[in-house]
Amino acid sequence: MAETIAFAADHGGFELKNLLVEKVRAEGFEPLDLGTYSTDSVDYPDMAAKLAEAIKSGKASRGVLCCGTGIGISIAANRFPFIRAALIHDAFGARLCREHNDANVIVFGGRTIGTEVAYDCLHIFLTTAFAGGRHARRVEKLATIAKE
Ligand code: RB5
Repeated sequence: MAETIAFAADHGGFELKNLLVEKVRAEGFEPLDLGTYSTDSVDYPDMAAKLAEAIKSGKASRGVLCCGTGIGISIAANRFPFIRAALIHDAFGARLCREHNDANVIVFGGRTIGTEVAYDCLHIFLTTAFAGGRHARRVEKLATIAKE
């Protein structure tokens, strides 16, 4: 069965989110589009919370978030202790956020990244494994901090 990837965006990330939904579908994943569904203004914390709920409930295993810069929605997503969201601008970051940080959410700025670069980054994110080893200890420490 195809892995389900959840998507959420505010109005600033709406157009890029729609393109990325189709991109993952074409790559054989199952997209779960949680909105927003128009360019009407919405609040990025609400959209991050929708995606976090989908991951917490197991409806999706990983996620993609977009807002205008990617910054606000990253800050919001990382307030959930089970989310490791990485705001990504290039292929190197897309690879390392998986290998070193075991990121389960990739974030893009709809007003800051080119579509083709975002496609590449998303492909790398979806197909790169966590390296474990010394990185596992560090990721475990993130969970410890979240509990404190
Ligand atoms: C919305 O105008 C904009 O502030 C939002 O998309 C995002 O860039 C916030 O970080």
